Formats: sequence, structure tokens, C-alpha cells
Amino acid sequence: MKLTLKIWRQPNAASTGAMHTYELDGVSPDMSFLEMLDVLNEDLNAKGEEPIAFDSDCREGICGMCGLMINGQAHGPEVTTTCQLHMRSFEDGDEIVIEPWRADAFPVLKDLCVDRGAFDRIIQQGGYISVNTGSAPEAHSIQVPKDAADRAFDVATCIGCGACVAACPNGSASLFMGAKITHLGELPQGQAERDSRVVNMVGQHDHEGFGGCTNIGECTAACPKEIPLDVISQLNRDLRTALRHGH
Ligand code: SF4
Ligand code: FES
Repeated sequence: MKLTLKIWRQPNAASTGAMHTYELDGVSPDMSFLEMLDVLNEDLNAKGEEPIAFDSDCREGICGMCGLMINGQAHGPEVTTTCQLHMRSFEDGDEIVIEPWRADAFPVLKDLCVDRGAFDRIIQQGGYISVNTGSAPEAHSIQVPKDAADRAFDVATCIGCGACVAACPNGSASLFMGAKITHLGELPQGQAERDSRVVNMVGQHDHEGFGGCTNIGECTAACPKEIPLDVISQLNRDLRTALRHGH
């Protein structure tokens, strides 16, 4: 495949970026999107040019490091992570526009890398439990209804990639927060901090500059783990309950 790539280049956080155009030939449809960028970087290195900075780690869809805005879609045209997107999703001769996540709370550090530290600070406000659960008990002795255990497990699959924020016109992290709040709120171990968790996480979310949810739903459409929109309803319910309890 022969591709025209329009890629955001920005030397550092303080500088102004711009789109640069690259022609790349010999791309296999079996390459992952990141392998395609690796090939481009080898070309740039060989020419003595600065390679394109982008984040990745596991390249298996589990770490959440690799988000890119591809042709205006978070993680590109498939419901998956950028590392699990393959070049067979594109056509020979395509022009592909590649940008970093665009959100005030995720400032660009360099080229396609953004600072997602705001997510870590939200997690620090309540993405944990403080009760001592001891060593692992025998599975059948855990008194958690199957529906609750399944729902907690389903939403625990959120990998913190930030696609929900990048896709949201408001730059809201409500889907991410809703996933964490639902995951811990469904389980007995998560009850001790249930009220303070939601109040503190929402406070940090707003402090970081994420926007409010207006039920547009782009977040869930872009989410590679298919976190459902109703976790935001759970978030709002838990917040209202916590405020009623005087938090
Ligand atoms: S909710 Fe989905 S899109 Fe948002 S951070 Fe979690 S996995 Fe990524
Ligand atoms: S590199 Fe880990 S999810 Fe993509």
C-alpha cells in the first residue's frame, strides 16, 4: 500500500505545532497502525530527520497508552485501540490524518504524545478501596450477586486510554469516571468510600479542566472496551446520594 500521512508535529509542550505530510510506500495490510508508524520512523531516521514521537507499551490493547486521533476518530475507524488497528482497515492510496488527543486536560507534550496525568490524579481521589480484604477467599464464599460481579468486571475493563475524552465535544471524562465508580460501587469492598469517592473524583475532574457530560454519547462509541453510557447515570446517582448524605 502507498499512503499519504498528514501528521501533527510539535517539538515540545510550549511550541506551536503544525501538520506535516509524509509519503510512505510498501505498507503491508497486515501491519498494525503502530508498526506502520515504526516503518515511517525508520525512514526518517535513515534520512537524519527527527522521528515522530508517539506512545505505546503493550501493543495488545491492554495498557491504554496508544491513543491517536485518526481521520478525526479516536483510535481510528474500528472499535479497538490504535495498537490493535490494522492497515487492512485502509485502502491503497489513502490519505490518513494523524493527530494527538485534543483536550485541554491532556496537553500535548511532543508530536502525538499527550500528558494524561489528569486521569492518574482522578484515580488518586478514589480509584481504590481501603478495607482490608485479607487473602483470597474461596470463590463460592464471596457474597456478591452474579449480576453485580459481572457488571463490575465488565466496566473494570476500562484501560484509561482517554479516547472517551478525545471524542467528546465537551472534553468530558465522565465515561472514564463512571467506569471506575461503577466498578467499585458494585462490590461490597467498595462501599466504605462510596460517597467520598464520587465527590472527590468529580471535584478533581472539574479541577483538571474536563468538561461536563451532555449525553452526546461519542464517548461510548469511541471506547475500545465498549464501556456503556449508563455508567454515567450511575455516577450521577451516586453523586446525588453522596450529597444527600451531607458530603
Ligand atoms: S472509558 Fe473507554 S475510552 Fe474512556 S478511558 Fe476507559 S477504555 Fe478508554
Ligand atoms: S499500546 Fe497498550 S493498549 Fe495500545
